[in-house]
Amino acid sequence: MSLLQGRVGLVTGAGAENGIGFAACRSLAAAGAQVVVTDLVRDLADEMRLQARAAELSTAGSDAIASALDVTDTEQVRACIDGVVDRFGRLDILFNNAGYAGGVGPFLDIADEQFNLGWQVNVMGAVNVCRAVIPVMKARGGGAIVNNSSVAGIGAIPGLAGYSASKFALIGLTKVLAAEFGDDNIRVNAVCPGMVWTDMGREEVELFRKAGQHIDQARSDMAREVPLQRRWADPREIGDAVVYLASDLATYVTGIALPVAGGLAPGL
Ligand SMILES: NC(=O)c1ccc[n+]([C@@H]2O[C@H](COP(=O)([O-])OP(=O)(O)OC[C@H]3O[C@@H](n4cnc5c(N)ncnc54)[C@H](O)[C@@H]3O)[C@@H](O)[C@H]2O)c1
Repeated sequence: MSLLQGRVGLVTGAGAENGIGFAACRSLAAAGAQVVVTDLVRDLADEMRLQARAAELSTAGSDAIASALDVTDTEQVRACIDGVVDRFGRLDILFNNAGYAGGVGPFLDIADEQFNLGWQVNVMGAVNVCRAVIPVMKARGGGAIVNNSSVAGIGAIPGLAGYSASKFALIGLTKVLAAEFGDDNIRVNAVCPGMVWTDMGREEVELFRKAGQHIDQARSDMAREVPLQRRWADPREIGDAVVYLASDLATYVTGIALPVAGGLAPGL
């Protein structure tokens, strides 16, 4: 059975080959969905990278397209969603994955600009895309939105004040939209990954690495905090949770923040 046959899904921040966004695209495509792979496009290299991602999915049998999408640019958001509707006539699944690891480091040293950038991408980015997508979903009788928060959005990790504040806010947004659009059969949930081995995961290791410590050692030290097998997540494991929340296996699930973190539970 193809869980998402006939559905169209869009993923933001999906240009990196080893990122959670593209892993989710692969999982959605494997479940039968047509996929719109989007990310920031600042130059020709970004454009080619994004086209290559979509081509990979097409080769594997999905009807996938690539589209430039800076989630902080409301004009581009509008143009992208209009393009999807023109192409497919529908949009059933939105994974708000784009994220910026801003506002990290010792709290007293974090610049306002970093707090603001984290807020603009992680919160307002989801707001912007939801504002464009929800009317499309309403018109088609429903849809599923999944927001990518973090375990840093449900518990305290010292050193992540700005990032964490934005990811808590994203869960707040998730819950309010779930309550507000339940009558429209639009389900809105969040996933909360723990440690996932991606470019951002590597940045996190760099942040917490002790002076002189090899990155591989720092990486395995951090993994000791994870109850399940003391390991980092593969991005696919987050993508598969997105498929579950987007699918008819979860028709009565809305407003939740699902940890996908191998049992990792930050304090407070
Ligand atoms: N890696 C982890 O351990 C981890 C843990 C919890 C949550 N997350 C979340 O997962 C998501 C994906 O992160 P990742 O680990 O795959 O790292 P990543 O760096 O590969 O992905 C982040 C993506 O967001 C995109 N992006 C940044 N600003 C954007 C903008 N203005 N518009 C559109 N796209 C933009 C980047 O281009 C990039 O493709 C993020 O929201 C991150 O906060 C990651």
